[in-house]
Amino acid sequence: MIEISAHFANQKLENCLMNASGAKCMTGSELSDLINSPAGAVVSKSSTINFREGNPLPRYIDLDLGSINSMGLPNLGIDFYLDFAQKNIATKPIFISVAGLTLEENLALIDKINKTDANFAIELNLSCPNIPGKPQTAYDFIRTQEVLTQVFKINKKSLGVKLPPYFDMVHFEEVAKILNQFPLAFVTCINSVGNGLFIDAEKEEVVIKPKDGFGGLGGDYIKPTALANVRMFYNLLRKDIAVIGCGGIKSGIDIFEHILCGATAVQIGTQFMKEDCSIFNRLQDELKNIMQKKGYNKLEDFKGKLKSL
Ligand code: DHB
Repeated sequence: MIEISAHFANQKLENCLMNASGAKCMTGSELSDLINSPAGAVVSKSSTINFREGNPLPRYIDLDLGSINSMGLPNLGIDFYLDFAQKNIATKPIFISVAGLTLEENLALIDKINKTDANFAIELNLSCPNIPGKPQTAYDFIRTQEVLTQVFKINKKSLGVKLPPYFDMVHFEEVAKILNQFPLAFVTCINSVGNGLFIDAEKEEVVIKPKDGFGGLGGDYIKPTALANVRMFYNLLRKDIAVIGCGGIKSGIDIFEHILCGATAVQIGTQFMKEDCSIFNRLQDELKNIMQKKGYNKLEDFKGKLKSL
């Protein structure tokens, strides 16, 4: 029997696969499809207090090697996601992603979630790259420390943070030092690689409308960066903080690599956008086949055990 369950943030996932926030998890019907799917847990679209239309279209483009998006936080508002989650919490773990545009909005969002009895986990998004004029919080270390200090003064749920990719060894260490001060349940590594630019050479123009074509990259382009971030935070964070891997997963081997680097569970974004909910079955089968060939019975047999040369 091959076991691929995962346990973190006070949640028990039957299997270690989740959608990435933003991928087909904004509307009631998308979320219901995920609830009824073989995914081990569901993450909601990052929410704000009120409904948001988001950025003008086209704002998501899928290419062979990945995607670019500048959605601009379209979402139905926190009350919708809380209502949906309360109605469906008996089915599987639900992570409510929150992305207030200010510290005050984040505190108001967490306060609303606190007021519910259900065992939701919170994924606090510190890394949305797509709001014109708003920097990614987690690239400002002083701000990150301040946000987490205020958030943990009021938070009553299991809470983790969605991080942007880092690219510098000193940055990894500085961020880990901050994160280790707080009772975080998990970190999700990584959000999209922010502010890339795809162009159409034929037409000599950008491919998405917002921010003159600049947007967050996902897919194959970002897997090595995702693995590096999972590995560094697995090594640098307290062992009770789970690392959730996200970035470039489209097959069982990609999941295997994320777990070797230290991931407890994984999220699928770009490839889930390309397929439907049956992807969660396909990926589970592929992961289990790899584990069987290698003689592993459970994720702990190889989690974090990447070898050095
Ligand atoms: C959006 C994009 C992100 O990468 C994110 O973390 C949150 C929101 C968006 O553009 O909607």
